[in-house]
Amino acid sequence: MTDFIHRRADFPQDFQFGVATSAYQIEGHGFGGAGRTHWDDFAATPGNVVRAEHGQRACDHYHRWEEDLDLIAAAGFDIYRFSASWARVLPDGRGAVNTEGLDYYDRLVDGMLERGIKPALTLYHWELPSALADLGGWRNRDVADWFADYTDILCRRIGDRIWSAAPINEPWCVGWLSHFMGAHAPGLRDIRATARAMHHIGLAHGRATQVMRGLGMSNLGAVCNFEYALPLTDSDADRASAKLYDGIYNRWFLGGMFKGQYPADVLEGLEPHMPKGWQEDMAAIRQPLDWLGLNYYTCKRIAHDGAAAWPHLSEHVGALPKTQMGWEICPDGLAHFLHFVGEYAGNLPLYVTENGMANPDSPDQPDDARIAYLNAHLDAARDAMAKGANLKGYIIWSLLDNYEWSLGYEKRFGLVHVDFESLQRRPKASYQALQQALART
Ligand code: NOJ
Repeated sequence: MTDFIHRRADFPQDFQFGVATSAYQIEGHGFGGAGRTHWDDFAATPGNVVRAEHGQRACDHYHRWEEDLDLIAAAGFDIYRFSASWARVLPDGRGAVNTEGLDYYDRLVDGMLERGIKPALTLYHWELPSALADLGGWRNRDVADWFADYTDILCRRIGDRIWSAAPINEPWCVGWLSHFMGAHAPGLRDIRATARAMHHIGLAHGRATQVMRGLGMSNLGAVCNFEYALPLTDSDADRASAKLYDGIYNRWFLGGMFKGQYPADVLEGLEPHMPKGWQEDMAAIRQPLDWLGLNYYTCKRIAHDGAAAWPHLSEHVGALPKTQMGWEICPDGLAHFLHFVGEYAGNLPLYVTENGMANPDSPDQPDDARIAYLNAHLDAARDAMAKGANLKGYIIWSLLDNYEWSLGYEKRFGLVHVDFESLQRRPKASYQALQQALART
């Protein structure tokens, strides 16, 4: 077994390690009275998801959560970053509550605390209730009120025991990837829908944050994803395109949440499509936050494409070694962002809220590639910390092999192997290496 290079003792005393999952990707959405979501609809549309796979059973975590929490505790993780499913709590997104769903999250949180694990809640990790998608979903401004109401109902029940909370996982994916690129539910390719979603997501984030503060919750943050945009060539046009890509991906939501201002270069393209009066929402979007979470996986090579409409970009993959996702392994990008976000978050505590790799793992073969990937990114993180980044924790995606959205069950991100027939869990070599590295000596 390949040893882990980094050990707990190499990090400051208060540094914490964690592992992450999300509800739709592991729970089994067909159980426990959960309502239909736009991911069920997206998967039921031919061509959207590999083999039309969906999350109805997934890892059956809904029934096996105790075994899964035991795995988290036995590895020595401090934090479990999990999400609640809106449609499990409110099957139609608003109105009648599914008490079985609330009871489930209540037990899950208690289960973490009993095992000494800190619950890090995400309120929305992508499965919008279908009934709300039917009303326009993220395009409809009312989504911010619906989300605030859901936040209130869920957090009145479990908020008193939550260690940290973030409203929306990876706003760029919810907005751009899902409404401009059509790659995730609802699968739109529409710039007007995109502009509205990109704005209403911020508003929903702000409203939910206010609700949680009102309930007396603390340690509230935001979880954004970051991709390191490199120009494909040295030309001025490619450099400018990489900068714009960086704006859409990495600066739009940070700008809204931390400065109450969208970046001018991106706004130039989106402004004609923004909802009327959007400027008046900026104060609500900019809420005081206690930390910023970075989800980081890869870099992208960006070129100018004059033939395409705004943003005139094309994306390319470079020559670095790749993961099973085809993503280049580029730890430099993580170091870059751990400094860059300071322009927005100042000296707030930072967490890597997701990092990890997909690898075609089988249970009898050590996943050395994952160990090397994590080591390289922890190297970058430690370097950044030595240069002043206020990084307080590192959370790995993911505990289990799970439903990788439009790529189905084939892409394995887990520290624990899941046999999707028998649902048997088997810790991989990376899990064991981390267990040794995290042991308190
Ligand atoms: C980001 C997302 O938050 C998660 O749902 C996804 O599975 C991983 N990255 C890997 O793509």
